[in-house]
Amino acid sequence: MNLAGKLMQAVWYTRYGGGSAGLKHVEIAIPAPGNDEILMKVEAASINPIDWKIQGGLARPILPRKFPFVPVGDVAGEVVEVGVGVKNFKAGDKIISTLGGAGGGLAEYAVAKESSTVPRPEEVSAAEGASLVIAGCTALHSLTVTGGLKLEKTEPRTNVLVTAASGGVGHYAVQLAKLGNTHVTATCGARNVELVKSLGADEVLDYKSPEGAALKSPSGQKYDVVVHCATGIPWSTFEPNLTPTGKVIDITPSGAAFWTYAVNKLTFSKKQLHPLLVTPKPEQIGFLVKLVKEGKLKTIIDSKYPLGRAEEAWAKSSEGHATGKVVVEP
Ligand SMILES: NC(=O)c1ccc[n+]([C@@H]2O[C@H](COP(=O)([O-])OP(=O)(O)OC[C@H]3O[C@@H](n4cnc5c(N)ncnc54)[C@H](OP(=O)(O)O)[C@@H]3O)[C@@H](O)[C@H]2O)c1
Repeated sequence: MNLAGKLMQAVWYTRYGGGSAGLKHVEIAIPAPGNDEILMKVEAASINPIDWKIQGGLARPILPRKFPFVPVGDVAGEVVEVGVGVKNFKAGDKIISTLGGAGGGLAEYAVAKESSTVPRPEEVSAAEGASLVIAGCTALHSLTVTGGLKLEKTEPRTNVLVTAASGGVGHYAVQLAKLGNTHVTATCGARNVELVKSLGADEVLDYKSPEGAALKSPSGQKYDVVVHCATGIPWSTFEPNLTPTGKVIDITPSGAAFWTYAVNKLTFSKKQLHPLLVTPKPEQIGFLVKLVKEGKLKTIIDSKYPLGRAEEAWAKSSEGHATGKVVVEP
């Protein structure tokens, strides 16, 4: 299909700040795929906090690379056209891609690198596929690479804590952790306690209760690995709840977290805090897709919006109270 010169609906912003009101609906040219690129019809784009944080100026002046900017990097769709150098995909294939800092996901069509794309089997919906990218890869990387957890029941038991377990990253982290030989404690709001238990958590704390705020395991567990997806919890709260070699993997690190990291290193502390920024890798996305296909990992979708209501999706994610993932379906 030759779409050169044709127009598509898209949503972009033209400056830092402005939140959901800063998103504008526009009609722009359908992008053309380069040599090693794929043009896809976007079927789902998953919003992550990083998307609205970049709009807010978090990575200023590096991201976005230019204005106006069509945000969102986690997409799933169908291949429409491929560049001459593309080997493994053809028109009609269902795919999942990470567009990263280039963005482009809040649009009817997007261009992805072949090297940032994986096939999507029919058992995995577009919404699930797009949701897996940043949120799933961050959960997987935190647990297995930084946390050193093996997702096998034959391993020695590991005590895991997941904070904000009802969120995009947290709900995957609970399920992935339970694929290993683990005891999982999780925190979330009171309204989501049963949901998080249904994902496999052994014990769940309401983060607004005194025990939840103190991260105290009801059964007295000390944590070997913490995947910290909430914000605003100081090291002094984590430290007494860790095993002697416990690790906090902090995916929302503040300045204080980097300070704690440095002090722990300088004092040869066996308890550690690891600030972490994850870049999704295709092999990780592929691994997660396989788990979904096998029925071992599910995606909780908070809400879905058509492209015409993308600003509502943006606002929903920005409020910080999504249960699972927020998805736009162009
Ligand atoms: N470093 C990285 O590479 C990386 C990658 C992905 C995400 N992140 C960051 O990680 C954080 C989580 O991302 P996400 O996509 O999972 O966010 P999210 O889906 O927006 O998380 C929302 C959920 O967090 C819960 N929550 C908020 N504060 C909490 C607290 N103090 N204790 C327990 N639960 C709490 C909310 O519950 P209630 O509605 O009940 O309050 C809500 O269900 C974000 O700050 C994001 O920017 C970092």
